[in-house]
Amino acid sequence: MTKKIFRTKSINEFISETQKEGGMERVLGTFGLTMLGIGCIIGTGIFVLTGVAAADYSGPALVISFVIAAIACACAALCYSEFAAMVPVAGSAYTYGYIALGEFWAWVIGWDLILEYAFAIGAVAIGWSGYFANIMTNLGFALPVALVKAPYEGGIINLPAMAIIALVTWINIMGVRQSSAVNNVIVAIKLVVVLLFIALGFGHVNPANWEPFMPYGWSGVFSGASVIFFAYIGFDAVSTAAEEVKNPQKDLPRGIILSLVICTVLYIIVSGILTGMVPYLDFKGQAAPVAFALQQVGYHWGAAVVSVGAICGLTSVLLVMLFGQSRILFVMSRDGLLPGVFGHIHQKYKTPARSSLIIGVITAIVAGFLPIGLVAELTNIGTLCAFMIVAAAIIVLRKKAPNRPRAFKCPFVPLVPILAIVFCGILIWMLPEVTQIRFIIWLILGMFIYFGYSYNHSIISGGLFSGPMEVSNRKAVSQDDHSTKE
Ligand code: ALA
Repeated sequence: MTKKIFRTKSINEFISETQKEGGMERVLGTFGLTMLGIGCIIGTGIFVLTGVAAADYSGPALVISFVIAAIACACAALCYSEFAAMVPVAGSAYTYGYIALGEFWAWVIGWDLILEYAFAIGAVAIGWSGYFANIMTNLGFALPVALVKAPYEGGIINLPAMAIIALVTWINIMGVRQSSAVNNVIVAIKLVVVLLFIALGFGHVNPANWEPFMPYGWSGVFSGASVIFFAYIGFDAVSTAAEEVKNPQKDLPRGIILSLVICTVLYIIVSGILTGMVPYLDFKGQAAPVAFALQQVGYHWGAAVVSVGAICGLTSVLLVMLFGQSRILFVMSRDGLLPGVFGHIHQKYKTPARSSLIIGVITAIVAGFLPIGLVAELTNIGTLCAFMIVAAAIIVLRKKAPNRPRAFKCPFVPLVPILAIVFCGILIWMLPEVTQIRFIIWLILGMFIYFGYSYNHSIISGGLFSGPMEVSNRKAVSQDDHSTKE
């Protein structure tokens, strides 16, 4: 059994599956991918969570928290880039785990990614709803609390959060060409808004607000990093578009690294300015800290523009997250680890439409009935765990298949992957204990599904059951062809 659960799949087999009839259209280049990355990265993290992190954890040292989270993400991004260029398949980290570590770890990563994406979609939709309600109130159309908050927070149902998920699900089903075009426009608006904040805020920085710089000490700075890590999530979603990319070997590493670098620079500038404009304690309880800071220095029009831009920004995060989630489920289904419905491609739109619809319904329920804190922390822990396994997989595959052509090589292996593991481990450690316990429960649930369904339905088990694709249509699996055919 141990041998069976660690069975690996070859790179060649994964790639040949993507070339079969009925696949997705290849329409994305470096620009589209970078926009996809930025579209997914800049969102609730910078527009909502910066205030919480500054007031409760980091103080003005929020900048350092952003740098710490950026180091963890940069190391993980280099690992992702090596894999993405070598295995341009929509399953992202899940696929990399399958190749390097075997089916069991692939399942663990896939299960983590489901947590990451589904809960991130929920958290961002809740953030979207907060901004939406805020704008409506300013326009004189205050929405009833019962319809904009989860039961746990004094409401009944978060309807705007559910409505935005429904809209984004529909756009995703319509197809990547349309999604990508919509995404490009939204990302442009979001970047303009962030640059506007920097331009307006820069002249109002008062260095006295940066004192004391670390009111909660280093432990506060690291706790802050584990919260605002959410702001960086999304660069990994670039790799889930692999099967829709024109030249994946070049475009994927560029898209991943470029989007992360651009966002990191913007985050560091924005967090420095934000904490310089307003005393950090004033951010306590602020749902829209960026707009709030502008209001405090008298830019009411600027705050209004930023709020509208934030709404657009959060929408684009939702677009890419839903996109990524449906692609991961698609690949897991193609491998037989999930039911065939997730691997179905819509004939007309050429997208995994049914999968997108199922995700839309589940995440709408999460967004409609759960509080944002719980949802965001679970997103972070799932993502951090997936990053750690991907980094380990880089080291393993360098040993297993040292001569396999790598269009992009992660530098300084094993140092960079080890740093990724250490930094992500520290961030997991700094998350609240209750989140760690919930995550363990999630993993146990995943084990039940794996051993109850996936283990027997896995295509590479030799087809005990029929999966979403006929076993006879597949090449015989050579367990080690990445080592023998290098
Ligand atoms: N990084 C994304 C955000 O901050 C998930 O909304």
